[in-house]
Amino acid sequence: MWHTEICMIDEILKELEQVQTENDLTAFHKNYLSKTGKLTMMMAGLKDLSPEQRAEAGKRYNELKRAVEIEFFKKQAFLKEQAVNEKLKNDPLIDITRPAINELQGTLHPITHLTRKVSEICRSMGFLIVDGNEVVTEFENFDAVNVPADHPARDMQDTFWLTNGKLLKTQTSALQHEILKKYGPVVSAIFPGRCYRNEATDASHEFSFFQCEGMMVGKDISIANLIYIMKTILSGIYGKEIEVRLRPGYFPFVEPGFELDASCPFCGGKGCSVCKQSGWIEFCGCGMIHGNVLKMAGVNPEEYQGFAFGFGLTRMAMMQYAVNDVRLFNSGNLEFLRGIKR
Ligand code: DAH
Repeated sequence: MWHTEICMIDEILKELEQVQTENDLTAFHKNYLSKTGKLTMMMAGLKDLSPEQRAEAGKRYNELKRAVEIEFFKKQAFLKEQAVNEKLKNDPLIDITRPAINELQGTLHPITHLTRKVSEICRSMGFLIVDGNEVVTEFENFDAVNVPADHPARDMQDTFWLTNGKLLKTQTSALQHEILKKYGPVVSAIFPGRCYRNEATDASHEFSFFQCEGMMVGKDISIANLIYIMKTILSGIYGKEIEVRLRPGYFPFVEPGFELDASCPFCGGKGCSVCKQSGWIEFCGCGMIHGNVLKMAGVNPEEYQGFAFGFGLTRMAMMQYAVNDVRLFNSGNLEFLRGIKR
């Protein structure tokens, strides 16, 4: 008896092939695959067979039922897709050519974005990216970078002193000492981070802002290395060739010290409102690390030299995104943040 049933399989599959609608498919399921369907019932008939026949037939029935089920599911998926396509084609309320409604998405804060960009460029040149503490000692922030005891920056007005005698770092230079001690004497690192200054805020002053410090120390490091690295960083950030020039400048932690200007990335040096028609923007302070700074960190200045630089990431973001009020960066104003094209 089971041989005839097996021969029926071709016909069952042919019948399934003919199915055109979901209703027909439901009927097909009821007829063959449901609890009372013919294929299920066929399994029930096995009990009348001899044990040997039962084993062989049972295996075969299972294979066949499975084969029908697979075709059934394929058909089901096909009909479903066809129905959706029909709906898309015929429903006058659905316009598949219409642009999608953009869900509101989070974005990186512009300063985070710039920090990552700078980090990527420096990492590609072998620099470490170091994340330092915001709370530092007076020694780290001032003494260790050769800031004299009577320097006005130590004044109560400029520094947020904590009750434990420590302070919120006023400059990323505060991390130089720790990094030199930890990774020196041969080290290249940048250390972007938040700085604090105890001052009144206005459109161009914030009590909290971001700087990025950099340092390269080793044997035979010279001003030529400094110029090359700064040129590479700046050209990478702005995606075009940037020229740099040095002017003498005073910072206690460097000797000689410089103010570094960059050719204006916004007008290419022709003169615009960002560079105040000069073709150059003041970019950062830098110089050859003072022997005292090296010595205090246990690096012998007779043997090793290095350069350091420190620029304002917040200031860079203001120029880059034409933001005229620095307070907006800390404002949590989502409309402002979303409006910035990174
Ligand atoms: N720390 C300085 C500031 O906050 C910036 C600076 C200048 C850093 C010269 C340096 C440097 O490393 O060499 O204004």
